Amino acid sequence: MWTPTSWQSMPQEQQADYPDKQQLNKTIEELSLLPPLVSASEVLELRELTAKAAIGDVFLLQGGDCAESFIDCNQASINRKLQLITQMSLLMMYGLGQPVVRIGRMAGQYAKPRSAHTETIDGTSLPSYRGDLINEVLFCPIKREPDPERLLKGYSLASLTLNYIRTNNKEQIDRFCEPERWQSDAMASLRQKPEYEKTIEAVRHSFSMLKALSPGLSKSLDSFYTCHEALHLHYEQALTRKVGNKWFNLSTHMPWVGMRTAKPDSAHIEYLRGIENPIAIKVGPRMTQKWLSNIIERLNPENSAGRITLITRLGSDKVAKLLPPLIECIKDRNYAVTWVCDPMHGNTRVTKKGIKTRHLTDIVSEVRQSLEIHKSHESVLGGIHLELTGENVTECIGGVCSVSENDLNRAYRTLVDPRLNASQATELALEMVKIFKQINLKSDQLSQNKLNF
Ligand code: PEP
Ligand code: CO
Repeated sequence: MWTPTSWQSMPQEQQADYPDKQQLNKTIEELSLLPPLVSASEVLELRELTAKAAIGDVFLLQGGDCAESFIDCNQASINRKLQLITQMSLLMMYGLGQPVVRIGRMAGQYAKPRSAHTETIDGTSLPSYRGDLINEVLFCPIKREPDPERLLKGYSLASLTLNYIRTNNKEQIDRFCEPERWQSDAMASLRQKPEYEKTIEAVRHSFSMLKALSPGLSKSLDSFYTCHEALHLHYEQALTRKVGNKWFNLSTHMPWVGMRTAKPDSAHIEYLRGIENPIAIKVGPRMTQKWLSNIIERLNPENSAGRITLITRLGSDKVAKLLPPLIECIKDRNYAVTWVCDPMHGNTRVTKKGIKTRHLTDIVSEVRQSLEIHKSHESVLGGIHLELTGENVTECIGGVCSVSENDLNRAYRTLVDPRLNASQATELALEMVKIFKQINLKSDQLSQNKLNF
């Protein structure tokens, strides 16, 4: 029988090793009495929207830091991220002709899976950094020790972030029509490209017209959801609450599971199977059809639409080979899933100097190929999942802001994976507008030819 703690008897991967278990248990008890961060009705609303994304009625835009940091829980940083995601969503609505649902990797994306338990620098080994919810990134023995107090701090900062998002979101939408208030440095470089300038102006013009026709428009567009990796199971358990006769994870709207913790008999799959939230599964190159079917059946035995989102992160060099069989497997078994493309995690490269980066060209290429593959298999790409920040960082290479390999050191601030900066992320949204239009045009022409025939 499932309970919020039944995961505890299953094999657990990627969990922090707390030196003081008693203090951990005390903290979890304390957390489980604190108010939830989101509501069950919002969670169900997102589940409905996810079901709509599966059939192409809406498009999901998931984005935010790889690892949120406690120090970035401040007004300026949240504002910039929110503004960026809002801008991108409005540009994409124009290109796609669909509502875009914003889901931030925000307000709780504080725990990270790591490939090694320890990190060694100059002969000294310390526990790996596992996200601000667990320990500190600073390479120092005391700071790297998992500390339960950080769970309470993470909960509080997630709550402050969410509160600020809720109060500030509508304003971000209104700002879209005020060119001078756009992130000027990010937009300055984009404006050098006439085709982008033309699209931005066209979108702003359409949006202003819609707002004039429907004064309540910004309000109706202002919902914002959150997602994070449901990795720290004690934390997730503490924020799991019963509403009516069902259990919900009320720390976030859409938790996801990464492949490192997604074995069918794992503690993570056991935990996720009992909550009502829409669940996302990261799907990387190692995923087999058998493995995927097994976890889908465990998490969604009733095959309910909106429950399962598959976030593919295959890499621009592998997607053409690996995505088609996955799509066929899902179609053959008639599984109700929503497909989302994460063009970031399969495209990480390490430079000669040992810096982790990603190239915008690879990212755009994986999006384009994924969309084409879905189209040609009569499947629907229902969303995109990105690592981005509103800050002017130099972590990914390329784009009109021309970040080169030599620029990486200039503003490389991510705690884990490289993020698109505001200019690169907006450029990606504009490229997606172009790609979607081209591909839709092509498929319209094909169906037109069929009709003529
Ligand atoms: C992530 O989304 O930050 C992540 C770790 O992804 P993945 O598990 O897909 O590598
Ligand atoms: Co990442």
